[in-house]
Amino acid sequence: MRAVPGLRGPRGPTPGLLSFLCLLAAARPSLADGGDPDSPFTSLPVQEEMMEKYNNLSMESYNISLTEQSSMPVEKNITLDRPSNIQLTCQLTTSRDLNSVNVTWKKGDEILENNYLINATGNILYTQHMFTITNSKQMGSYSCFFQEEKEQRGTFNFRVPKVHGRNKPLISYVGDSTVLTCKCEGCFPLNWTWYSSNGSVQVPVGIQKNMYVKNGTYANETSLKITELLEGDGGSYWCRALFQLGESEDHIELVVLSFLVPLKPFLAIVGEVVLLVTIILLCEKYTQKKQLDSGTEKEFEQIEQLKSDDSNGIENNAPRLRKTEPAGQ
Ligand SMILES: *[C@@H]1O[C@H](CO)[C@@H](O)[C@H](O)[C@H]1NC(C)=O
Ligand SMILES: *[C@@H]1O[C@H](CO)[C@@H](O)[C@H](O)[C@H]1NC(C)=O
Ligand SMILES: *[C@@H]1O[C@H](CO)[C@@H](O)[C@H](O)[C@H]1NC(C)=O
Ligand SMILES: *[C@@H]1O[C@H](CO)[C@@H](O)[C@H](O)[C@H]1NC(C)=O
Ligand SMILES: *[C@@H]1O[C@H](CO)[C@@H](O)[C@H](O)[C@H]1NC(C)=O
Ligand SMILES: *[C@@H]1O[C@H](CO)[C@@H](O)[C@H](O)[C@H]1NC(C)=O
Ligand SMILES: *[C@@H]1O[C@H](CO)[C@@H](O)[C@H](O)[C@H]1NC(C)=O
Ligand SMILES: *[C@@H]1O[C@H](CO)[C@@H](O)[C@H](O)[C@H]1NC(C)=O
Ligand SMILES: *[C@@H]1O[C@H](CO)[C@@H](O)[C@H](O)[C@H]1NC(C)=O
Repeated sequence: MRAVPGLRGPRGPTPGLLSFLCLLAAARPSLADGGDPDSPFTSLPVQEEMMEKYNNLSMESYNISLTEQSSMPVEKNITLDRPSNIQLTCQLTTSRDLNSVNVTWKKGDEILENNYLINATGNILYTQHMFTITNSKQMGSYSCFFQEEKEQRGTFNFRVPKVHGRNKPLISYVGDSTVLTCKCEGCFPLNWTWYSSNGSVQVPVGIQKNMYVKNGTYANETSLKITELLEGDGGSYWCRALFQLGESEDHIELVVLSFLVPLKPFLAIVGEVVLLVTIILLCEKYTQKKQLDSGTEKEFEQIEQLKSDDSNGIENNAPRLRKTEPAGQ
């Protein structure tokens, strides 16, 4: 059995910290009640402080498992749209001496000093970082590092929900109405905003007389209705969802076709002309062919007559013989 207090923190051995935590745990047994019974961490002073301040927030737990054989860092994408208490756990299964493994946590490139716990059972090393996300600055990437012979990394990427517009352009015609729709899965944005882009500038929708933002049936969708489309209404439209922890947007391309409408009568005339010309050409070809056919027929007859007069029967037998040859083989 390996003694846990021998574990090293980010700056060499920190038995002091761990015994301090154990003491805290012993002194306040009531804290363990809120914890996960399966967790290798019995109690956390950070958690207590956090829970007191943000006890109305939900607790979200995520974990990553690493082994000494892991060749690639392990990543987890986490979607979060409201302030939450976060509990991140990384575990490393290794055959090496756990005391020689250094543990570090980073947010982006920034080292999180002593703001985490380390524990071990058997050949598994656990580390846990607990914190609260209440604003967009606290979103981003949180990574745990296990430094042994090779460095093992687990990364938790926190993002607001993705908004989905439309991949393909939406095609409409001048004078028609159209509805652009954006959605996000299982999310509850505070509100939605629509923008139309004029060149590289985003213009909020609302000034234009022919555009109305319609509330979706649910908070997870929004629609923009555009009536009496003009050619100038074509372009990019952006829908933006605002969350407590940031915003997310996507775009829809609108193509307004106009040339087909005035072209319609013209196209009809062109169609008729093409049909007439085709008929005329066909008639001409037909009569030409007839003339040609009757001409060659006469010539043929003459030649045939001459041939039958000259050598009767031989011409007809030759191809028949050739045909039977393959069958005989
Ligand atoms: C470490 O894990 C063991 C077993 O899971 C547990 O009994 C112990 O209380 C933990 N220590 C800390 C400081 O959480
Ligand atoms: C939770 O409590 C904090 C601090 O008391 C407060 O600012 C926040 O609005 C509360 N959030 C909710 C969802 O009630
Ligand atoms: C780790 O996460 C997985 C799912 O991703 C879950 O099944 C497992 O129970 C978690 N383990 C701990 C110790 O929280
Ligand atoms: C996480 O998101 C990034 C960027 O969107 C993506 O490249 C990566 O494949 C995602 N990872 C997982 C495990 O889904
Ligand atoms: C762990 O950190 C200590 C002190 O900073 C250092 O001496 C040791 O080489 C590190 N171990 C590894 C495996 O990087
Ligand atoms: C939007 O929310 C409703 C009701 O909660 C749900 O039925 C629907 O599936 C959700 N749509 C998306 C795209 O998440
Ligand atoms: C959305 O909410 C934010 C913050 O409450 C506010 O500044 C913005 O004007 C709102 N937008 C709309 C379109 O209501
Ligand atoms: C687009 O921008 C140009 C100049 O930058 C301006 O004249 C025009 O009115 C704008 N159109 C709309 C629809 O805002
Ligand atoms: C759309 O929703 C907003 C906020 O949820 C509300 O203030 C507004 O009255 C709604 N508009 C319509 C037309 O239902």
